[in-house]
Amino acid sequence: MRVYREKKTLGASERNEGQDFVDHRSQDNPQRLHAAIVDPDAIALFVNAFSKGVPDLPAMMRALKLSAYDGLEALRLVEKPVPEPKAGQVLIKVEAAAVNPSDLMFIRGRYGFTKPLPTVPGFEASGRVVAGNGRYPRWLVGRRVACGVQGGEDGTWAEYVLVDAKGCIPLLPRVSFEQGASLLVNPFTAWALLEQAERGRHRAVVQTAAASALGQMVLRLAVRAELPMIHIVRRAEQVEALRALGAAVVLDSSAPGFNKALARHCNDLAATLALDAVAGDTPARLLRAMPPKSKVVVYGALSEQEVKLSPGELIFRDQGVEGFWLSSYLGSLSLPGLLYRALQVQRALATDLQTKVRSRIPLEEAVAGIRDYQERMTSGKILLTP
Ligand SMILES: NC(=O)c1ccc[n+]([C@@H]2O[C@H](COP(=O)([O-])OP(=O)(O)OC[C@H]3O[C@@H](n4cnc5c(N)ncnc54)[C@H](OP(=O)(O)O)[C@@H]3O)[C@@H](O)[C@H]2O)c1
Repeated sequence: MRVYREKKTLGASERNEGQDFVDHRSQDNPQRLHAAIVDPDAIALFVNAFSKGVPDLPAMMRALKLSAYDGLEALRLVEKPVPEPKAGQVLIKVEAAAVNPSDLMFIRGRYGFTKPLPTVPGFEASGRVVAGNGRYPRWLVGRRVACGVQGGEDGTWAEYVLVDAKGCIPLLPRVSFEQGASLLVNPFTAWALLEQAERGRHRAVVQTAAASALGQMVLRLAVRAELPMIHIVRRAEQVEALRALGAAVVLDSSAPGFNKALARHCNDLAATLALDAVAGDTPARLLRAMPPKSKVVVYGALSEQEVKLSPGELIFRDQGVEGFWLSSYLGSLSLPGLLYRALQVQRALATDLQTKVRSRIPLEEAVAGIRDYQERMTSGKILLTP
């Protein structure tokens, strides 16, 4: 089965968005890289920088400083010097910075790593490169980019951020800063998770937290690829919202009879892969409902609970659980491979990989805005606009 090779005919409105979404995910194939290089979108990426001037840099900038891993209580707006790029780095003037569940975990010290304090949180953003140190970093100066910050550097919740030039994705002219701010974390993860479904030749896939921004991306990609899915949400109102996006099977985990219904659908569809963002006892519930030899990929921990498993599923039903982290996935890609995937992802940013933004918030109002997002996550993302 070649799940993502099938290209469905696109509607006129989608074509107008410049969408031509054929999957090229699985290989760093030289022919495909060649195709990207002669592609008009790829050419646009090379030429779009030169008409843009680089502004004079101020000495100081505003940034949100985290002084303790105590969450929003420990976040303050401060003035600090604009940093200078070290070898291999670029300085980006931030236009929009995303707020994701990973940021909420990070500011409470519950993410996969911590940074020395004080630090500036924020893992992704979009903006314009205003300085670079090194050949490739200097080539990026003037360009509109999306960027991701890992490592020990300060993050994106600031007016300026330093990033490794290799962590920058030049934006197509038609991709706004607003769309670009959420280009890396969720779209790349949705793409990579479905890549796993394709590689494993799974006939059907289950996903939890399906009403999340990422879950909706996975849903739309799967609908386009005609990959059957079972979507799990935790509130009744989320069921209808996902049906409206084309989901055939949506189950509410808070409804009576959920476990039985899940097992029935998993068996009917032969769903042998589950994508889980909840953790706690959810992977075990999924495995019990799925056929022998099934696998759960845990990529999120929204419950903030340890994964609890009974050995029976693993031993007697030959099932498995593994993790997924975008940083490791991105680190496994070559720079041309990363840029090529970024081109494909950008083409789908206005459609399958779109992120609903509910508000844009200046740094001064960030704490209240993030609190509001935390309380109503399914209502859409907030963007920090320094
Ligand atoms: N591993 C990686 O590299 C990677 C990369 C990207 C994203 N992620 C993970 O992907 C997940 C989704 O991210 P996102 O940005 O798409 O989220 P989002 O749009 O902010 O939405 C979060 C969703 O999770 C639901 N939720 C919250 N707590 C839950 C719980 N305890 N049980 C079930 N559902 C819960 C919310 O539903 P309510 O409205 O009902 O609260 C909401 O629909 C997160 O866990 C994130 O960390 C992981």
